Amino acid sequence: MNVLDLFRLTGQVAIVTGGAQNLGRQHALALAEAGADVAICDLLPEAGKQTCREIEALGRHAFFGQVDVTQTDQIDAFLEAAIKQLGPIDILVNNAAMPSEGCALETVDDNLWRKIIDTNLSSIFYFSKRVARHMIATKRPGRIINIASVNAVIISNILPRHNIAYCTAKAGVAHLTRGMAAEWAPYRIRVNAVAPGYIHTAQTAASAKYPEIVERITSNTPMKRYGRIDELKGAIVFLASEASSYATGSMVTVDGGHTIW
Ligand SMILES: NC(=O)c1ccc[n+]([C@@H]2O[C@H](COP(=O)([O-])OP(=O)(O)OC[C@H]3O[C@@H](n4cnc5c(N)ncnc54)[C@H](O)[C@@H]3O)[C@@H](O)[C@H]2O)c1
Repeated sequence: MNVLDLFRLTGQVAIVTGGAQNLGRQHALALAEAGADVAICDLLPEAGKQTCREIEALGRHAFFGQVDVTQTDQIDAFLEAAIKQLGPIDILVNNAAMPSEGCALETVDDNLWRKIIDTNLSSIFYFSKRVARHMIATKRPGRIINIASVNAVIISNILPRHNIAYCTAKAGVAHLTRGMAAEWAPYRIRVNAVAPGYIHTAQTAASAKYPEIVERITSNTPMKRYGRIDELKGAIVFLASEASSYATGSMVTVDGGHTIW
């Protein structure tokens, strides 16, 4: 097969969690541009429906569901509706997450810790388990992509605080990815992760207001800049498609070289 054809997702159905805005929106558009119909879920209905309109403008089908990814009853209802609307699921991108606590570790509220771990790590288990069962039952070769972070492998030393709950959750995402890859390889479900570095989005906008933080991030990054919001699209389509047919349990780092140093 021609190498460019390996990246095509024509006729496939994808789900993107947290797909309403920023990076999740970009993942959804990338999958649609490659040919997939896309269901997105998010807490934000207006932004979510707007992203659906953009997917439809590309000639694909789209579906939005308002879902809190920590609530398993909402996940069940969303999956049932998405499958009814778009058909059986081939691709799941676990992107939804919340930023971290931004305060000293010894002062982090216990409930906030639980919320970050539940939102950024456990939700990936809740979603993937259900989608994998569906893929196994429908005998489809599935692909699951988990959005980790450079903070899965390094503790950030750039912001005034190290955001340990976030880093811990993302390190869990990396290991959960390997575990799911091992468990589900016999069912032809491939599971990989993407580890973004600092990308210009709402999540990094707060820190970008402070020139000293921007300076620390750029000077600690060999490419000397933040990533653009569209610079993960290639990695997402690679891992979602036949172009990565022998990859499972891997983590693709897209960070301008940040984790080299
Ligand atoms: N922006 C970066 O520089 C960066 C770097 C490394 C990793 N990441 C990861 O990339 C992903 C997307 O990042 P982003 O910058 O676009 O973040 P973002 O906060 O802009 O978007 C996350 C989306 O998830 C949704 N969401 C949050 N909690 C949810 C919940 N409980 N249920 C359903 N939806 C929920 C939000 O509404 C939002 O639309 C995240 O997993 C993030 O950790 C981002």
